[in-house]
Parts: sequence; C-alpha cells; structure tokens
Amino acid sequence: MTPENTKGQYLPSDEYRKTAMVKSVDEYTRLYSESMKDPVAYWVKQAEHIDWFSKGWKEPFTWNKKKDEFTWFKGGKLNVSYNCLDRHVKNGLKNTAAIIFQGEDDKDVRVYTYGQLLHEVERFSNVLKKNGVKKGDRVAVYLPMIPELAITLLACTRVGAIHSVVFAGFSSDAIFNRVADCTPKVLVTSDGSYRAGKKIDMKGKVNEILERDTSVEHVLVVKHTGADVVMEKDRDVWWHEEMEKVPLKCEPEVMDAEDPLFMLYTSGTTGKPKGMVHVNGGYLVGVNSSFRYIFNYNPGQVYWCTADIGWITGHSSILYGPLSVGATTLMFEGVPNYPENDRFWQVAEKWKVDIFYTAPTALRMIRKNGDDWIKKHDLSSLKMLASVGEPIDADVWKWYHRVIGGGRCPIADTWWQTETGSIIIAPLTGAFDLKPGSAMKPLPGIKTGVFREDKTECGVGESGNLFLMEPFPSLARTIWNDHAKYVEQYWATFPGHYLTGDGARIDADGDHWLLGRVDDVISVAGHRIGAAEIEAALIAHPAVAEAAVVPVPDEIKGEAIYTFVTLKDGFTESEDLKKQLINQVRNVVGPIATPKTIQISQGLPKTRSGKIMRRLLRKIAGGSSQSELGDTTTLLDPSVIESLIKGRL
Ligand code: WTA
Repeated sequence: MTPENTKGQYLPSDEYRKTAMVKSVDEYTRLYSESMKDPVAYWVKQAEHIDWFSKGWKEPFTWNKKKDEFTWFKGGKLNVSYNCLDRHVKNGLKNTAAIIFQGEDDKDVRVYTYGQLLHEVERFSNVLKKNGVKKGDRVAVYLPMIPELAITLLACTRVGAIHSVVFAGFSSDAIFNRVADCTPKVLVTSDGSYRAGKKIDMKGKVNEILERDTSVEHVLVVKHTGADVVMEKDRDVWWHEEMEKVPLKCEPEVMDAEDPLFMLYTSGTTGKPKGMVHVNGGYLVGVNSSFRYIFNYNPGQVYWCTADIGWITGHSSILYGPLSVGATTLMFEGVPNYPENDRFWQVAEKWKVDIFYTAPTALRMIRKNGDDWIKKHDLSSLKMLASVGEPIDADVWKWYHRVIGGGRCPIADTWWQTETGSIIIAPLTGAFDLKPGSAMKPLPGIKTGVFREDKTECGVGESGNLFLMEPFPSLARTIWNDHAKYVEQYWATFPGHYLTGDGARIDADGDHWLLGRVDDVISVAGHRIGAAEIEAALIAHPAVAEAAVVPVPDEIKGEAIYTFVTLKDGFTESEDLKKQLINQVRNVVGPIATPKTIQISQGLPKTRSGKIMRRLLRKIAGGSSQSELGDTTTLLDPSVIESLIKGRL
C-alpha cells in the first residue's frame, strides 16, 4: 500500500483495490452526494440487503422533531437471527464457518458453521421460552467471551426478547444498577471466566446481586471453568441440562422494524448509566451496510475483531455486522499478553486472519513490548487493518501499518459510538489515500457538522463540537425508561441535530480529525467511564466528603483516572485509606475504573455558585503550573489552587 503520496498519505495497492467494495474516490463522491440529495432513498436501498418478511412500511422514515422521536421502516417485518443465520443456510453457507472460537487455552477451539450455529440458537431459543421469556421481555447477559454468548444474543433476537449485556469486567453495584433498570426476567451467566490464566468467579457475583430484590426469575448457567458454584433451587438451571430438554426447532418471531432489539448501557455525564435502545430494522440495516463498506470482506476470509461483546463494538462488529453478511468471525476469549506478549499474532497466524480490527490502547501496549514478538509470526494473511475506540495518533498508525500490516495493509480508523450502533466516520480503504491519524469521511447517508458553542459552523480546520445532522437508521431511539434524558443529552443542545459529545475538526479536504470527549466522560483503554459514576462510588465511603474525578493522559490506556478527594472531619490521610478508596471504586464500579491516583486535598476549586471547576482540575492533574491555569479569580477560594498544585502526585 505504498508509496506514500506527496502529502504523506498512504495509497491502497491495485491488488487490494480490486477486492474493495468502493474502488475510487470518485465512486465514493458520487455515492455520497447522491445519498445526501435523498438520504431516505439511499437507506431504503441499503435495506434491500436485509431479508424482510414484509416491507410493509408506509413511510420509510418519520421524524417528530418536537418529541425527538423518529422511525425507520416502521411496519416492515423481519427477524435478526433469521438474517444472521437461516437465510445464509438457505443460500449455500450451511457448512461455512460462522464463528471460530479461540479460547484462552490454545487447545480450546470450537468452530460453528452457519448450520450448527442455527441449530444451537434454535435450541437455546426454546430454553428461553421454557424459562418464561416472551417477546418484549428483557434478558440480562453476564457471560465471558464464549460461543454461548453469541448463541444467547441471537436466541434473544429470535424470540423477540431484548438483550442487555453487562460487561464481564463490571462488579456488584454496577451490575445491580443495570439489572434494576432493565428488569430482566432471565439472567444468563456462567460459572466463571478465564483471564490471563486465572479463573474468575462470575456466578458468585450474580448470587450476591440476586440476594437483593430484583425481577430475575431464572438464572441460566453455562459450565465453562468447572468452578464450584452455588445453585439456588428453583431459580438456577444449567445451560447444558436445559438444552437436552427442549425441541430442536424454533421459528423466528416476526418483529416490527421499530421493536427494540437490545439495550446496552453506556456511561454519561451523570452517575446513572444510560440504557441505549436499539431497534430491529434500523440497527440491522446500519451494521450490515457499514460492515460491507468498511471491511471489504470477501468470501472465505477470516475476520477478527478483538473487542469484548460487553461493548457496542462486540455487538456490531463481532456479531451482527459480520453474521448479517455471512462472514466468518473469530471470537477470542483471551488477552493480548497471555501466555506471552505475542498471543494476538499467534492467533492471527494460526487462523490465517485476513482482516484485523482492534483498539489503539491494545496497539500501544503491544508496541511497548517490542516488535520482536510480532516478527516471530507469519502475518502475510492480513489484508486490511482497522482501529476503534479512541483517536489513533499518526505515530501509532504508521507503526501499525509498517509492523503489523507489513507495509501492505490499509488501515480504517473507525469512529462511532454505542449510540450510533454502527460505524459512522471512516475511510473506505480501497478508495481513499489514507491520512494517518484521521478517521477521514462519513459513510454515505450520514451528514456530519462541526459547530462552535454559539451554533455557528466552524471554519476549515477549526475545532468544535461534532454533530450528526439528521437521524439515520442505526441511531439509538431512546434511553430505556428515560426519554427525557435522551432528549436532554443528545438533542436539546442544537435542536434537530444529534450531539456526539466529541470534539472534532474538518480539514480542507473534508477529512475529520476526532479530538476526544468534550464532556466528563473518561476513556480508559477505550472504555467509556463516567466521572460521576466514580465520584458517586467514592462519596459512598464513610471517610469521603467530596470527590472530583478527571482524566490524565496515559501512555498505554490513552487516559487514566485521577481523583481528588476531600475527607470528612475526623479522618486523616493514610496509605491504608487510599487503598480502601481504590478498592471501593473497584468493588462498586469494577476493575476497569480503578483510579491511577488519589490526591487527598483540603478543598476543591469551586465557582461562587458551588460548581466544581473540573477544567482546572484537569489541568492541575495534567501538570500545569499556576500561571497556565488562566483566570482563577472567580473561584470561591482561589487559595485552594496553590495547595492542590503542591499536593499533586
Ligand atoms: C471514542 C465505541 C476517536 C469517542 C465504538 C466516542 C473514538 C466514544 C473513535 C464512543 C475513533 C470511538 N477516534 N475517538 N476512531 N472511536 N471513539 O460508546 O470519544 O464505547 O464518543 O463506542 O469513543 O465509545 P463507545
């Protein structure tokens, strides 16, 4: 994919270009401008890639701007598992691998063809029904990255249940809050998971949560690690035993395009995570279309996305996107550095992976361990690479291109969110001359805009707030149980336009440069964590009077968590107390939210109206001197700044 052009851009090779869906900039420009002239007609065309039981929509798109409610393909009938399985089985992919599962133990391998996967999904759909699950019911899923997770989600979609996956790295309170909010009838979990050679308990955590009052009637438990677990009579049943007791066939439920498909919680600016609701029709059209455009998947290839299904990337890019097009998707249970630092490359070589999709945080860690780990392996099967979760800086991009991609593979830096459901901004790698560090252009059908605080449009190269100008099919419809919050968070800032919460600038070529979050959301290793959620956990500790949490740059994780804490009278600073506070966050929110630093301070900088000035705390945590902080005279007590700088860790 070399040579670079005179502007430092990377060009796809002719060989790669031939295999791509969009092969030239002209083709993209034509497609994009046509889609902008009539976005609805464009999306209706994309919907033709889905098998509908009936295309009974009167209008493909409706939009009630007063209520911030919109619909796509309402009245159209479909089933997502049918689109991901049955239709491929009918169309000749019955014996093609759908999922290649690679466990943490190299010997733990399971390959499911489309035919086998359908068989398992039908059986588990009947297990769900046997345990009382009906269309519209919620099913909570707390499982490791094992095939049963994919089977569970697909079975939910088959019977019309709404799945709600809780990331396996969360712990008790975080899980409880999510379960309490979505009120599932059934929870699917396992005896445990493996992580870097250790067995991690999962069922014990579930038992703890269910000691509190919840809506859960049955727990279905997968035997995975073989750990001893406590099963509660009448409530808990084993997956493998239930699977023996049900009929083998299960017809897919006929779902309306606007029926909820799943919800997935994401952190926002308040302490309460938001259950973003995605719907059957629009979501499937969006993930199917973006997968085809971005990855240039060709039959017979192996596609590997290293994300966890606990996040949207896993939902859309491991499961629904690839399966909706009949691709072979690799599902990996392990981590990049166990048993050794070359685990990813060993897996990529073993399965002859063609397309590889990961996060910048993983790349930074791998790069730090040295290129020798990569050079040990034959990665010549790789054809294209992609990245998601945070900005990938040009330096890491070039390294990814040279060392992993052998100078041959184009890279798609893909920008999107839990809310958008599918990829929104990314280069079409067979068409564009790639710019390291830029996610480049929106996909056809999507209109972006960068605006100043006063809602005037930013000029070329000027940073501002990124908006998506109109609803598109895969955009989340609401927040579960809280449409008012949805309106306030996403639509109220600039009525009629969706606020992403990210900063961006658009250069003279129309290419987008993403600049990270502009709100109080911290991105630790690409995982979104609300500052408020961590603060709430800290304040619940008896010693804590106040807490403020800000991000600091981190070499590997992109951002790390820096916390300022003031203590209640009668408590004094000690190493033991700091440890307690760290454990408090780990126990309440989860290990992913572990603070890097806890600074105990006498006070926090506040405005006269009592609002904590996070802007200043970010700068202090990041190492700024007093003179770099700007005007601090509006503070209630300006002297607090000096002591905060002195106490900086
Ligand atoms: C960030 C993950 C820069 C961004 C799919 C966004 C990115 C948040 C990129 C969503 C990228 C994701 N470049 N930033 N290519 N991709 N982000 O909901 O801040 O877990 O708002 O969805 O991640 O994170 P989420």
